[in-house]
Amino acid sequence: MAKKPIILGLESSCDETAAAVLQDGENGNTKILSNIISSQFDIHKEFGGVVPELAARSHLEKIDLITKKALNESKIKINDLDAIAVTAGPGLIVCLTVGLNFAKGLASSIGKPLIAVNHLEGHALSPKINSKLEYPYLLLLISGGHTQYLSVEGLGQYKRLGTTIDDALGEAYDKTAKLLGIDFPGGPKIEKFSKKGNRNKFQLPKPIINKGGCNLSFAGLKTAILRITKNIKNEQEKFDLAASFQKTIEEILYEKTKIAFKEYLKKNKEKNFVVAGGVAANKGIRNKLINLSKEKNFKIIFPDINLCSDNAAMIAMVGLEKYKLKQFDKLDFKPNPRWALDDKAKFLKGAGVKF
Ligand code: KG4
Ligand code: ZN
Repeated sequence: MAKKPIILGLESSCDETAAAVLQDGENGNTKILSNIISSQFDIHKEFGGVVPELAARSHLEKIDLITKKALNESKIKINDLDAIAVTAGPGLIVCLTVGLNFAKGLASSIGKPLIAVNHLEGHALSPKINSKLEYPYLLLLISGGHTQYLSVEGLGQYKRLGTTIDDALGEAYDKTAKLLGIDFPGGPKIEKFSKKGNRNKFQLPKPIINKGGCNLSFAGLKTAILRITKNIKNEQEKFDLAASFQKTIEEILYEKTKIAFKEYLKKNKEKNFVVAGGVAANKGIRNKLINLSKEKNFKIIFPDINLCSDNAAMIAMVGLEKYKLKQFDKLDFKPNPRWALDDKAKFLKGAGVKF
């Protein structure tokens, strides 16, 4: 039997240096032979956000070590790799450059193809590692920098149905956490806090809930939280605010996803729904969207919890799909810090819409 393709994935678009080795398998049985992630959390926490220069320096220091670790753990020899897949955008240009240049050097030294991967496509295909996933599907991508509804029609074929007009959802979680005095990144901690609070204590706004189709907005929510935190008297009220925020987000996503389902069904019959990105690890959001999917007869698919946040296995997954179609890239491929998944996003770039 022919050897199943083996791909090395590399990720350095923001504050995680990651390398993973993936081997092809049929129908959601792709094997993760190794998946190493080194987070720069400790470097950036005192600044309350990612400092690009420090991030790039740390990627430079670690990328060869992390890659070696991934290869050792996978028990794969470097010459047995079939291709090197690497994130080439979107992200911080100084960080993307480190991973991309490293991947180019490695690919040319072992004489194997280079595959440039869009980080967002990595999230979009992340459930494919462990689940059977067929095109087309509706994708809700919720991460620290992106919040979008997309119709996924095939590899590299995306149509955007809606996006945030201001903050990304992960950003809204992180900013709320900061206002509550919680460390960056605050998303997972807000979820923990919310379990100890009263979800109905504070009434928070749901911006553009009845307009804008399945576009979303979270900036007004942040302003309301800022106002409330000024009058918070004790720890319990912090838990209550986190719980009320979590409930509001669940309700916003429930309503907006209902609209996105309708939009998606105008052009598609297959009722498949994928929720991916760092915020897709949130259990409250998962449960709310599972219930909606049951009501509307959609099949809902999530990545494994440990594949929601940034990782290189999802980059290798896209690499594998592209490898099978022989979609290779030249060694002069440029990093693209604003690489959008769909043409509409490029069109809207100047209009202040994040993609
Ligand atoms: O996909 P990701 O790792 O990085 C980007 O590509 O942006 O997403 C990171 C974001 C952060 O904002 C983090 O706070 C959020 O995902 N996040 C969560 C949870 N886990 C991570 N937000 C809410 N609940 C969680 N359990
Ligand atoms: Zn990401």
